[in-house]
Amino acid sequence: MQKRVRICAAATAVALMAAVTGCGTSSTNSDTNGSTTNGSSSEPTLVLATSADYKPYEYHDTSNGQDQIVGFDIDVANAIAKQLHFKVKIEDMNFDGLIAALQAKRADFVIAGMTPTATRKKSVDFSDVYYQAENVVLTKKGHTVKTMNDLSGEKVAVQLGSIQETAAQSIPNVKLDSLDTIPTVVQEVLSNRADAAVIENTVATGYLKSDPQLQLNKIAGMTENGSAIAFPKGSPWTQKFDTAIEKMKQDGELQQLANKWFGGSQ
Ligand code: ARG
Repeated sequence: MQKRVRICAAATAVALMAAVTGCGTSSTNSDTNGSTTNGSSSEPTLVLATSADYKPYEYHDTSNGQDQIVGFDIDVANAIAKQLHFKVKIEDMNFDGLIAALQAKRADFVIAGMTPTATRKKSVDFSDVYYQAENVVLTKKGHTVKTMNDLSGEKVAVQLGSIQETAAQSIPNVKLDSLDTIPTVVQEVLSNRADAAVIENTVATGYLKSDPQLQLNKIAGMTENGSAIAFPKGSPWTQKFDTAIEKMKQDGELQQLANKWFGGSQ
């Protein structure tokens, strides 16, 4: 099944819209008209690539004895899968490798709290934004930061390949400490190996709750970082996902999931 989808996506990239009607589970974009089959045996499997180091978007939950990837993004993906009638297979990898996985067609889509930047848009396609976040600076208590320039000359931990890494690169004389995963980024601050970390508020809040040594510094004038789903260029799924996301915005399902995972902060 997986193979069929991949081949189909590749064919579509070449033949553009002409091939779309032969792909996926639906012959039109009207995913709500009930015309698609409910027989699960005919549902294709799409490979979802993510970097499950980003609680509450996606993370490993081992609380009931098994290792399961859960979170807001996973629930969003499953809700879209239900609407569009496909199955999901999760591939966990480093954040820095996600775009390359799409380009190599090793994944059908990426959901990883990923922000649709102009640079990334050169390599992949993005859905509409489904959630918003903002950069904050995480420090140990007592080290107060009001602007990014307050971090001049300091050692700043960030996730490799993230927009926080790009943001930190413009701090004068910064010593950049780029790491693969967010837990290790936070650990750098906790163990005094870094003076600060640049991270999204939606993720920082969780660490703040579990560790009283940490301080969250809001930076004035930060713009919002939307999260969107990424696809290989020319994927026939982008538009279908947009329709599904729009429906979830309209009927309140997206808000319900946000309440579940972020405590109704948006
Ligand atoms: N929104 C940021 C970006 O797109 C950070 C995303 C990090 N996601 C993750 N699953 N670690 O660069």
